Amino acid sequence: MPRILILGGTTEARLLGERLAKRGGLDVTLSLAGRTAAPVPHAVPVRVGGFGGAAGLADYLAAERIDVLIDATHPYATVISQNAVAAAHATGVPFVALLRPAWRAVAGDRWIEVNDTHAAVSAIGVQGRSVFVALGRNELAPFKDAPQHRYLVRSVDPVEPPLPLPHVTYITARGPFSEADDRALMTAHGIEVVIAKNSGGNAAYGKIAAARTLGIDVILVRRPVVADAPAVETIDAAVAWLDHTLTSAVARGV
Ligand SMILES: NC(=O)c1ccc[n+]([C@@H]2O[C@H](COP(=O)([O-])OP(=O)(O)OC[C@H]3O[C@@H](n4cnc5c(N)ncnc54)[C@H](OP(=O)(O)O)[C@@H]3O)[C@@H](O)[C@H]2O)c1
Repeated sequence: MPRILILGGTTEARLLGERLAKRGGLDVTLSLAGRTAAPVPHAVPVRVGGFGGAAGLADYLAAERIDVLIDATHPYATVISQNAVAAAHATGVPFVALLRPAWRAVAGDRWIEVNDTHAAVSAIGVQGRSVFVALGRNELAPFKDAPQHRYLVRSVDPVEPPLPLPHVTYITARGPFSEADDRALMTAHGIEVVIAKNSGGNAAYGKIAAARTLGIDVILVRRPVVADAPAVETIDAAVAWLDHTLTSAVARGV
């Protein structure tokens, strides 16, 4: 049976695993970094933890005789994605990235696009404002430099230790988040500006749509670019790529 490694941590990775499990005839493993305390269940076997850089991932691909590598990690998880490109190159394992398209601004959006979290914090401004922070809990350190604002921080797991800031409210929640729920949350907390990543997809779009309805600013951290990664945008396209790759391998007698 062809051995497939999916690098996961996203809804798409989980759904791709489900699709491949239903087909049968494939030996699929899904890899998680181990960031969340209680990951959602998966339909395929899961391994957890880093590989030890690009070289470690290349060693894993060889030792586990992996035939195909699919990087379905989050669009902002660039270290593992660069490592996947390098490991696939080093081992010759066929590789594709499953990368959901970025959101595009539509009429009514008030987006301020910035390159990183430091720039996002500066873009809030000098005057104290109420800020909804929808970033990963490991990305919050730059907010220490702007104690004048009131923050609402939402993350999957608790922020430990709490930020050394005078006005922070923490919420733990796992998406998907609807526009109506996010609008109600933002209204209840008097939110004046949202800080988010351009994650794409539906699960995290609620806050973007809610900000548009409420007429408030969204400071959006631009997507990083992973060089030399062949990519598809949908699960269907990833499955089609996999079929084509496996058929070609059979035709070549690999
Ligand atoms: N960054 C985000 O905004 C975001 C949002 C939602 C979910 N996630 C998910 O959370 C995970 C970690 O994200 P990150 O931004 O910390 O990634 P990252 O900065 O690109 O990766 C840091 C290190 O974590 C390990 N790693 C990352 N993803 C892994 C995976 N799927 N399986 C095994 N090891 C992995 C690798 O360690 P080694 O070098 O030791 O192999 C990697 O070098 C990813 O799987 C991603 O899909 C990230």
